[in-house]
Amino acid sequence: MKLKMILGAMTLAAAMTAQAQHVMDINTKKAGVPIQSTMYGLFFEDINYAADGGLYAELVMNRSFEFPNNLAGWDISGKVTLKDDGPFDKNPHYVRMAPAGHNDKHTMIENRGFFGMGVTGGEEYRFSVWARVPDGGNAKLWVDLVDNATMGEDQKLGSASVEVSGKEWKKYTTVIKPKRTFAKAHLRVWGDSKATTDVEHVSLFPVNTYKGRENGLRRDLAQALEDIHPGVFRFPGGCIVEGTDLATRYQWKNTIGPVENRPLNENRWHYTFTQRYYPDYFQTYGLGFYEFFLLSEDIGAEPLPVLSVGLSCQFQNKKESDHVPVDQLDPYIQDCLDLIEFANGDVTTEWGKKRAEMGHPAPFNLKLIGVGNEQWDDLYYDRLEIFMKAIRAKYPDIKIVGTSGPDSEGKMFDKGWAAMKRLKADLVDEHFYRNEDWFLATAEGKAKWPNCGALRYDSYDRKGPKVFAGEYACHGKNNHKWNHYETSILEAAFMTGMERNADVVHMTAYAPLFAHVEGWQWRPDLIWYDNLRSFRSVSYYVQQLFAQHAGTNVLSLTMNGRVVANQDGQDGLCASSVIDKPSGNIFVKVVNTSREKQPVTLNLQGLKGSYAVSTLTLSHNGMDDENTLDQPNRIVPQAGTVAITTDKKGAQVNDELAPMSFRLYRIEKQ
Ligand code: AHR
Repeated sequence: MKLKMILGAMTLAAAMTAQAQHVMDINTKKAGVPIQSTMYGLFFEDINYAADGGLYAELVMNRSFEFPNNLAGWDISGKVTLKDDGPFDKNPHYVRMAPAGHNDKHTMIENRGFFGMGVTGGEEYRFSVWARVPDGGNAKLWVDLVDNATMGEDQKLGSASVEVSGKEWKKYTTVIKPKRTFAKAHLRVWGDSKATTDVEHVSLFPVNTYKGRENGLRRDLAQALEDIHPGVFRFPGGCIVEGTDLATRYQWKNTIGPVENRPLNENRWHYTFTQRYYPDYFQTYGLGFYEFFLLSEDIGAEPLPVLSVGLSCQFQNKKESDHVPVDQLDPYIQDCLDLIEFANGDVTTEWGKKRAEMGHPAPFNLKLIGVGNEQWDDLYYDRLEIFMKAIRAKYPDIKIVGTSGPDSEGKMFDKGWAAMKRLKADLVDEHFYRNEDWFLATAEGKAKWPNCGALRYDSYDRKGPKVFAGEYACHGKNNHKWNHYETSILEAAFMTGMERNADVVHMTAYAPLFAHVEGWQWRPDLIWYDNLRSFRSVSYYVQQLFAQHAGTNVLSLTMNGRVVANQDGQDGLCASSVIDKPSGNIFVKVVNTSREKQPVTLNLQGLKGSYAVSTLTLSHNGMDDENTLDQPNRIVPQAGTVAITTDKKGAQVNDELAPMSFRLYRIEKQ
């Protein structure tokens, strides 16, 4: 009797387990729609000190003395005067350093960098300066990297000097090797005690930049981009494309050619939030369009430049007269046409020649262009139409990316999409910074935003323009608008829906990309840093897991005949699967958004041959968990393996997913 009861209980337990098992049927026999190589991309904007003070490795702030306060970032001593007839017409200011006039006085200029300068002991830093001796003869400039706060006898971390000669402006360089690592160094340039010296474009770069380039990029940050394996790289913004007003819009032609003569622009994020205000936020354009194209090439991504459509930021400029009248768009349109020539034209063309002179005679093979950032309403559609006509006439093969504006749905979003269809834009850039309810499509979410969550794209028109989900991130509600584990997992859940719908979703990018911990205006962000260190957020690893396992074709994945997208009865699961046709490897992404563990079976229908399954898993110690500068690897994908069994019909993988976790299954041919 007792044995019977035990057996009965065991059968019941087995039945309950079987009931709770979530069987996902994956049709491995039929490769579905192709996944574009551009599917998982990156979006760069100079926000949060992403360019100057971030990716762009220049350590000197206001190197050309062109900030409105010409000595912003500089402390001076002795006899320093500002002059404005320098050798670079677009950056005419420089400083004259005259002898201090007494043996015990010194003329010196000291730069504070961007929140200090991060220098590593034993590494080389290339100092350069344009200088002359206005009265003729020779002069010596001493250069020190210093730690102003040290209790030691000597503030110097490292020193070097340059000999300046003659009345002509020339560039001088030397290398400084600091003896120890310091995140907040300053740079001092000492004038000659006997000769007056003019000094312009004072610059300090690590020699060890990404790919070792002069005028290069911070190695750890650029490497983080490459490590994602992005398919597309959108630049330079974002709202900075539009500017706070037309005068401060991003103008690509100002960003090419010698860096010394690229004019300064006000950064739009300088002004945006009075509660986080950065009066020293400007764009030197040292990281300009040539460098963006080069970076796209280096990281293996299709470049996607975005240009002004003649509208300044529509949030900040409400009057029609704040924008360029439709009959005066020619110079803006010409900017687009010239940019395409700059990227693709041969070296005999006007703009192709400029590219070649900068060091890249081969074309960059541009295929995509964005016209307008986050614009809306007829103001935009009327202008875009004129741009499209001109671009199509000259470059019919270039794909044009329009936008549905800042909303993820609603009246203006629908109007935008209708216009994009009418105009036949190739892709529509959608932006959504939404909360957990939106990403998870909870009842509250669906009530407010009917087309939210992982099912969003299942109902999209298959015949219209393709989707570029060009800026998105889950912004936690209830004052949780910062990077934390929970929102990253919900992004992963949502991404399974984009992947399943790869026939309409051709490109995607999280936003924003970068943030300096001492200089941010907007969060969450994908990659954070200070002057020496950086960390990759959990959202970064979500992006990376998708991008590194993008596959070539979607595979159908269903549970009881329905796609797995946190639908009723699916216990918070979202999933997608792809095949990489050349290798035959299959990648399945399963996200458990519930607070319970969930048993899962991957039923790989029709899979024949020998396979091994490895997994990469993101899980947590709490919903607010996140990587930090001090603990950059607190949450990284954990590697594991699971068994695979085969039968006549295919293969099965039985597994269990931890609450709120994301697991990638790599089913690889042996
Ligand atoms: O990513 C931050 C900002 O969000 C972008 O500049 C803009 O396009 C959007 O409003």
